[in-house]
Formats: sequence, C-alpha cells, structure tokens
Amino acid sequence: MSMKDYQAIYGIIGNPLGHSLSPLMHNAAFKELGVDAVYKAFPLEADDVQDFFKKLKEKACPIFGLNVTVPYKEVVLEYVDALAPLAEKIGAVNTIVVTQDRRLIGYNTDAPGFLAHLTELQFNLTDKRVAILGAGGSARAILAILCLIPERPQSIRIYNRTSSRVDQLIADLQSRIDLSIVETVEHVEDLNIELADLLINTTSMGLKEEDPCLVEESFFHPDMLVYDLIYNPPETLLLKMAKERGTQTSNGLGMLYYQGVLSLQHWANLQLDDRVKEKMWEAIHKRTAK
Ligand SMILES: NC(=O)c1ccc[n+]([C@@H]2O[C@H](COP(=O)([O-])OP(=O)(O)OC[C@H]3O[C@@H](n4cnc5c(N)ncnc54)[C@H](OP(=O)(O)O)[C@@H]3O)[C@@H](O)[C@H]2O)c1
Repeated sequence: MSMKDYQAIYGIIGNPLGHSLSPLMHNAAFKELGVDAVYKAFPLEADDVQDFFKKLKEKACPIFGLNVTVPYKEVVLEYVDALAPLAEKIGAVNTIVVTQDRRLIGYNTDAPGFLAHLTELQFNLTDKRVAILGAGGSARAILAILCLIPERPQSIRIYNRTSSRVDQLIADLQSRIDLSIVETVEHVEDLNIELADLLINTTSMGLKEEDPCLVEESFFHPDMLVYDLIYNPPETLLLKMAKERGTQTSNGLGMLYYQGVLSLQHWANLQLDDRVKEKMWEAIHKRTAK
C-alpha cells in the first residue's frame, strides 16, 4: 500500500450497514500493516449513489478503495470504468479499486471468497450435487462461480421464494455462463436435499433469531455439508438442526474473511502475509463468537 501525504480512506457502501464487520476487519489489517489508512462505513440512500460516485472520481478525493454490499452490488456496474473478467461474468461487484488517476475498477471477491472457504473446509466440488436456497445477490455470485470452475459440481438445484427472481437470475447469467448443470425448482422439497452433498443458504432467513428454518429436519443427513452464508447469529436454526442430524455445518464468517483478504489484496496490489490475515480473522471472529 503506497504511502500518501494524507490519510487514505477505504470503506463500504450499502444500506443498511449497521452490522457490517468489514470496518473492524480492515482497520485491524491497516493497524498491523502500519499504514495511515482508515476504513469507514458509508451508508448510502439510493438517491445519493450517483453523487457519491461523481465525487469519488474527483482528483482530490481521498478514497482509494471500496467494498459494495446490499443493495448496490449490481447498481455500481454502471459507475465503474472497467470490470475484472470474473465480475463481468457474475454481473456484480463487491470491491472497487480506485487507481491513482481515479479510474474505478470493479472486482467480485465474494465468489472466490466462498470457494476459498470451501477449500479450507476440505470440500471438493467435483461431481457433487449442490442445492441452493435463494436467488439474491449472494446467490448470483455463488451460482456463477460454481458453474465457471473446472471442478464444477455434477448438478445444482436452486429454489427461491419468488420464482420470477430465480428465473431472471438464470436468464441473465446464461447469456455469459454455461448453466447446463443448473435446474430451478418450484418447491424446497424439489431441491432433493436428502440426496445433496452441499446445501447453501443464501437467503436472509436466519438473520433474526426467531426466523423459521426453510428446510425440513428429515432432509439433513451426515454425508453432506450445510453452508449458511449468515454469520451473525453464528448458528442459525438451519445450522443447528443440521448439526443435530450429524451433518457437517459452516456459517459464512470464513467467506466474509476471504472476500475481505482478497479485496485488500486488490487495493494494496500485494499478497498479505499471514500475520495480517490472522489479525483480520481475529477481529471478526472475536465479534461473532458466542
Ligand atoms: N458470508 C458472507 O460473506 C456473505 C456475503 C454476502 C451475503 N451474505 C448474507 O447472505 C444473505 C443474503 O444476502 P444477499 O446479498 O443475497 O441478499 P438479497 O439480494 O437481499 O437476497 C435475499 C434472499 O433472501 C430471500 N428471502 C428473504 N426473506 C425470505 C423469506 N422470508 N423466506 C424465504 N426467502 C427469503 C430472498 O428471496 P425473495 O427473492 O423471494 O425475496 C432472496 O433470495 C444475508 O444474510 C447476508 O448477510 C453473507
């Protein structure tokens, strides 16, 4: 990260941002790196987005990198000057690099962040049967990357409460990605979870402690991994029920961590050493551990 004669600012845009752990994670990294930089939350109303990007392009603007979260990951496509190939395929950006001449380059680190966490969990996707709950922004990144990688699964079934949304997602992605392994289903029961090797919850069901589980308990089995993108609460009802049936489970904190590491590596244009990565992990893990 180059030294500047003023404090460089990084941050996250989205709405709401109250519970974002990204400031904790990146400020811990900046401290460990010893750079004069700060990471801030920029909660933006939809009406303010255009103006924000206009200012971001100005020469004197001290912001050199951004994360983007709900609901702007697709909106920002129109504001960036260039897209990394993966972000272009996925059709969503969660990381923006601002170059010295204030060009904005959009990346997607959610998708490789998810894959990196699966690797850490020693889950090999080749020939596996995958079931996905949800068709929002995070499902877009996950569905796309699962279809793009050489070690792609055997099949992917995807269900969303609002079927028109999953249809739109498929229609958009299939103009750029081979989705021949993907099948959309009308009902959760048709996900065939009892035969799946991996169930991924990309919905926001489970964020609230009182949220019901979308999946019937009898579907879980010991030969599968249930992955919930939600990390706060650290154990959703879905994960709790799956665990009780002897299923391997994971929440999404690892995905958050890996996407953050990859974002920072894009901003700094360097590989982070293990010490910095440990500080990033500690910062978010401490906050969410029960
Ligand atoms: N671990 C990580 O790094 C990471 C990264 C990104 C996101 N996340 C988490 O993933 C979750 C989803 O994020 P997102 O960006 O994909 O959000 P999003 O674009 O707003 O999509 C929300 C999804 O949840 C579904 N949903 C909401 N309420 C539901 C309900 N009552 N019953 C059934 N389905 C319901 C929506 O279905 P409809 O289309 O029918 O409304 C949609 O599929 C959030 O909890 C977020 O915190 C984690």
